[in-house]
Amino acid sequence: MNKLDSEVAAGHLLEAGYAAAESPADADLILINTCSVRQHAEDKVWSLLGTLRPHKRRNPGLVIGVIGCMAQRERDRILARMPHVDLVCGPLELDRLPDLVEEIRQERHHILAVGEGHVGRVPRVVSHRPNRFQAFVAIMRGCDNFCAYCVVPYVRGREASRPPDEIAEEVAALVADGVKEVTLLGQNVNSYGRTLGERGNDSRSLLCEAPQGAVNGKRLLVSFPLLLRRLDCIAGLERLRFVTSHPKDATDELFRAMAELPSVCPYLHLPAQSGSNRVLRDTNRSYTREHYLERIARLRELVPGIEVASDFIVGFPGETEAEFEETVALVRQAEFQNCFIFKYSPRPGTKAAEMPDDVPWATKQERNRRLLAVQEDTMRRRNAAMVGRTVEVLVEGTSPRDPANLTGRTRANHIVAFPAQAALAGQTVLVEIIAATPLTLLGRLQAVARR
Ligand code: 5AD
Ligand code: SF4
Repeated sequence: MNKLDSEVAAGHLLEAGYAAAESPADADLILINTCSVRQHAEDKVWSLLGTLRPHKRRNPGLVIGVIGCMAQRERDRILARMPHVDLVCGPLELDRLPDLVEEIRQERHHILAVGEGHVGRVPRVVSHRPNRFQAFVAIMRGCDNFCAYCVVPYVRGREASRPPDEIAEEVAALVADGVKEVTLLGQNVNSYGRTLGERGNDSRSLLCEAPQGAVNGKRLLVSFPLLLRRLDCIAGLERLRFVTSHPKDATDELFRAMAELPSVCPYLHLPAQSGSNRVLRDTNRSYTREHYLERIARLRELVPGIEVASDFIVGFPGETEAEFEETVALVRQAEFQNCFIFKYSPRPGTKAAEMPDDVPWATKQERNRRLLAVQEDTMRRRNAAMVGRTVEVLVEGTSPRDPANLTGRTRANHIVAFPAQAALAGQTVLVEIIAATPLTLLGRLQAVARR
């Protein structure tokens, strides 16, 4: 979502006549897009802002802005601590960027734009994609889940879904423009459509042909699996992905749609966060480890070749060694393709911030390392088992580590590197896997795939 926000900011500014600068020293406008999910991310922004002070001294006409979640959370504290910052703009106001920057240039005053957006208004999507064949599409915004550790509902607002017609139009336009892979974005895509149904928006006319669905027992006019079914009909869309899903709403209906729809990739990011039922209860995640394991077992039964990835937080308040071991056991058992592991960071204003942050930093670091080592074992073993297979790869470009190699991803989201000409970027190719590391498969180009 954060990456898409950068693309949206760039899209609006390019449309208003701006062009990318070569370096901060050449720029008339510097925007820093920010994340608030952990303190560490915010600390990095504070120090980066400090380093921009001399640029402003050299070029007093320079406009410096902070956008994104930290803008929303820290608001006027940013302007107070960093007086060389001109603009603070939250994630719901990005479409106003060109006007706000123009106002600053004309009138040379500071602007704080951290409203809630306009209720019911879904801003026109103008985004600048980093390449021509992949695109993000936000299908909703905000989050109503209020997991106890998480700042997102406070900085991105309440959950709101975009009408399906608008999403389908956007995806069709992207595909017509050469996009092969679309990633649908939402904090919890599985609850897509809930707000459309509940708030009585007249979305009946926007409905796809598919039958009505149900999520959490509520009858819905639209649901996420139905949206997938509708987007799958768009000819030329090779790969449809989505992030992220909440285990409490991971239904068989979703799994069946994933199994049946040719464009939907067999990969599910399903953050578990912990393997301890006590921690899951206190984080307000509303499922148990048993439910989580049952869901991924069912998913594997219904969707052949599916890969599952997860997020975990170590060192949540009160996490004992035994509770952490339950997470280790879950990670061992679940056989994830990948895990993103985070040390708990208290976020002011959240429910968990009222609990004592009593797991020492060194213990969090140690648990992070131990969990990562368990996951690396799984990845080493599972990637080694891929050697000898031929996989379909959408080539993304030259490998940042080795310019002689191209990298891309399989439909199940394995990263593959292989030697070939850069001209293949954007092509779907067949690659034979000849070696593997825990994170990357190494291969030999076999053919450019025909579809
Ligand atoms: N501390 C550490 N990790 C967090 N995450 C969210 N909030 C916090 C926090 N306060 C992690 C979760 C989430 C991922 C995006 O970031 O694992 O899934
Ligand atoms: Fe945060 Fe939970 Fe919402 Fe994810 S589902 S954004 S972790 S509150």
